[in-house]
Amino acid sequence: MSTLREIAARMVAPGKGVLAADESIGTMSSRLENVGVDATAENRRIYRELLSATPNLSDGVSGIIYCDETLRQTFADGTPFAQAVHALGILPGIKVDAGAKPLPGGLDGETITEGLDGLPTRLAEYAGIGAAFAKWRAVYVIGDRTPSAGAIRANANALARYAAACQAAGIVPIVEPEVLMDGTHSIERCAEVTAVVQAAVREELALLDVDLAGIVLKPNMVVEGNGNTEQSSPEAVAAATVEVLEAWPAELAGVAFLSGGMSPERATANLEAMQAITTPWPLTFSFGRALVDPALKAWVGKDERIADGQAALADRVDANAAAVRRRGEL
Ligand code: 13P
Repeated sequence: MSTLREIAARMVAPGKGVLAADESIGTMSSRLENVGVDATAENRRIYRELLSATPNLSDGVSGIIYCDETLRQTFADGTPFAQAVHALGILPGIKVDAGAKPLPGGLDGETITEGLDGLPTRLAEYAGIGAAFAKWRAVYVIGDRTPSAGAIRANANALARYAAACQAAGIVPIVEPEVLMDGTHSIERCAEVTAVVQAAVREELALLDVDLAGIVLKPNMVVEGNGNTEQSSPEAVAAATVEVLEAWPAELAGVAFLSGGMSPERATANLEAMQAITTPWPLTFSFGRALVDPALKAWVGKDERIADGQAALADRVDANAAAVRRRGEL
């Protein structure tokens, strides 16, 4: 059995990142319907098998995050997903939060991510099914009055309780505080908010004695809002993002960014620009949409286009793996 620290280090190993394929049943269903595919459990299964079985995926992907439904499904040959990808040299992970729900006392529709009740029992079961790591996402919206201090504190506390429960269960937690790109705000405002949010997360992790060498941090990149017409360069995003991250101690196992709705190309360019900056922890990807959207569009539910979907995923994985391999070279 690998230790938490060994698993975390493997997740952010040089030249590799994590594939987020853990859309909830609702989100995955609407993405399938958007490309004309019936939203059935079998089609969700086929799509996740397509992604997971992409030839040579483990060259650039260290782990894949699934949702509960997928972790209980099997490849067409009957092998459960966790065992199938483990055999391919990829760590299976599980999204364990129950989603972002309205936060009583929060401002302007703020949310709290739920799912703590019964979590230790669920984690024990997921460990038994083969999950090596888990994911929990907290969401923060930049607005005139948000994120509020209450929402920042409540979500940080939930992230820390989740992380502590994961480590107690022998599962590496991906800790994901996501400051959304929605809005017209500047990159400077995103930097301020991201710094405050991450500081609260660090405090709560420390209070519950979470081992930072046994977690992977999954933050947003620091960028302007998607309604702001001035798009920052990759170098500006990289500099602003790393400046915020510098508050994390060197023992943190690594940072694996979400893509947050950025185009696949922009997410990769930003990730590459970050490799030029020396940091004590690796900076890699844990993208969802920036990896899988091209695959979904290439496949569109057709058996004869599975190889096209896999080729589209492989292209994005190769581009991002090449970007992170430039660490120390730029
Ligand atoms: P995106 O890269 O699409 O933001 O998804 C990553 C993720 O896992 C969100 O929780």
